[in-house]
Amino acid sequence: MTRRLDGAKLVLASHNPGKAREIAALLAPFGAEIVSAAALRLAEPEETGDSFEANAALKARAAAHTAGLPALADDSGLVVPALAGQPGIYSARWTGPTKDFAIAMRRVEDELKGKIDRSAHFVAVLALAWPDGDLKTFRGEVHGRLVWPPRGERGFGYDPMFVPDGYEETFGEMDPDLKHAISHRAAAFKRLVAACFR
Ligand code: IMP
Repeated sequence: MTRRLDGAKLVLASHNPGKAREIAALLAPFGAEIVSAAALRLAEPEETGDSFEANAALKARAAAHTAGLPALADDSGLVVPALAGQPGIYSARWTGPTKDFAIAMRRVEDELKGKIDRSAHFVAVLALAWPDGDLKTFRGEVHGRLVWPPRGERGFGYDPMFVPDGYEETFGEMDPDLKHAISHRAAAFKRLVAACFR
């Protein structure tokens, strides 16, 4: 049984401004008071886990322990079956030192050359940790296909090369409200909300 969060102060342990924005928008209707990791000057732990769940858990636990408040962390990435699941948990690291997603998208495209299967899915795992060590994780996925060249200036990360199933636009072209409604993070969120806010 997951503990409920109504009216609680919650630390958002994400240092990625794109993700923090999406998570804050998704949490807005539930009245939880959000404190950002940046405002608390929380350090960003190294993502040493071997799964989305493990990485989300270590970020949430570190923030909850330091802040003495429940903390929510997210780990996410793009999974490409034709690339044996890569970039997966290494999605952010595929940008290289310049953190430029044009480079990461180009690498995905280069490695896909000659492959017929262009399916892909985004995975998001939300981990909710309490200062006493209690922890729950919630996983969401959105399936689709990869296109080239990248299209659209909205969103972040690999959005311009990902077209979700049932749509023709990339996440980079899509109205952010629609992306928020159908995204992997939204799916994980629905699970979190069902467990913690209702
Ligand atoms: P992390 O969860 O901070 O380790 O990094 C996840 C990485 O996955 C991001 O930096 C992006 O590269 C990618 N990613 C996760 N969610 C999305 C999304 O909604 N759109 C595009 N890229 C995403």
